[in-house]
Amino acid sequence: RSVKSLTTASSSSLLRRGFSSESVPDRKVAVLGAAGGIGQPLALLMKLNPLVSTLSLYDIANTPGVAADVSHINTRSEVSGYVGEEQLGKALEGADVVIIPAGVPRKPGMTRDDLFNINAGIVKGLCQAIAKYCPNALVNMISNPVNSTVPIAAEVFKKAGTYDEKRLFGVTTLDVVRAKTFYAGKANVPVAEVNVPVVGGHAGITILPLFSQATPKANLSDGDINALTKRTQDGGTEVVEAKAGKGSATLSMAYAGAIFADACLKGLNGVPDVVECSFVQSTVTELPFFASKVRLGKNGVEEVLGLGPLSDYEKEGLEKLKPELQSSIEKGIKFANQ
Ligand code: NAI
Repeated sequence: RSVKSLTTASSSSLLRRGFSSESVPDRKVAVLGAAGGIGQPLALLMKLNPLVSTLSLYDIANTPGVAADVSHINTRSEVSGYVGEEQLGKALEGADVVIIPAGVPRKPGMTRDDLFNINAGIVKGLCQAIAKYCPNALVNMISNPVNSTVPIAAEVFKKAGTYDEKRLFGVTTLDVVRAKTFYAGKANVPVAEVNVPVVGGHAGITILPLFSQATPKANLSDGDINALTKRTQDGGTEVVEAKAGKGSATLSMAYAGAIFADACLKGLNGVPDVVECSFVQSTVTELPFFASKVRLGKNGVEEVLGLGPLSDYEKEGLEKLKPELQSSIEKGIKFANQ
């Protein structure tokens, strides 16, 4: 199969096996935090991805077991497990894409920002290692609060002299996945056909789904749009409460993380018109980082797309989210430089 023939592959190709890989380039994907609630199913989904040739699973504990387990699946990639900081370099060397779901998840009553004190330090350390061992990798940041961990990563890379804004992504795909699912339910349209951009950030009101641009079109009332918006913004909390102390979204997040990493790999491989929403360095608004649609290419971000026409409700939401997002970004920058 030529790389070109992959253009027709949809997200369902994630689950397709027996794919001939002859002319698909070699790609190493590293998952940091691979033994966790997200890391394990994400490792599974990346093992099913025919674009991956080497799958590197890193954690501070329990990775040998996860790697042994996943490695028995008869798909293309070679799997290696790495455990503990002294093996981090090996885990990262030569990586094309590094996915980071390392850190603690929320418990009921916590906001994503409550995770800052622990996760900021974890992300900082991992990004220092990325700067050293695979400075050209595309970084997919899942660890929360994404609104702060992405700016932390940028500062760490700047200090190391390796920062390239085209290669750093906050993974907001789960917000898109949720918006699509909830919209399809309310609008009574086939979920597989639904597209909804989600912009802003990745916490509470900073998550701004643009249902006015959703397709297929549906005539939803203002009340419906308001309810859908709130449910998308609170989707993470819905899961945290349902899990009642046993963590946050892991399975749907692994799916979302796999979709986003697959898009990054397709972009690297030269597949045209790969567009996903992501929290990236941006000039779309006055904020230095912002989530919007991004076209992915051979160097990572090829183009950060604008917001498109917004409804009055969305315009209002955009103005409301800016101060919170700005302060989360500043908090990350300050932490990285202290
Ligand atoms: P978890 O606690 O189940 O797993 C985290 C893993 O990270 C553990 O295996 C732990 O050993 C590992 N870890 C801790 N320190 C590490 C380090 N220095 N290096 C490598 N690995 C390290 O947590 P879960 O549920 O997998 O969540 C992980 C993160 O993802 C949390 O910060 C959570 O808030 C975030 N998350 C992000 C979402 C998003 O949409 N971006 C959605 C859901 C969760």
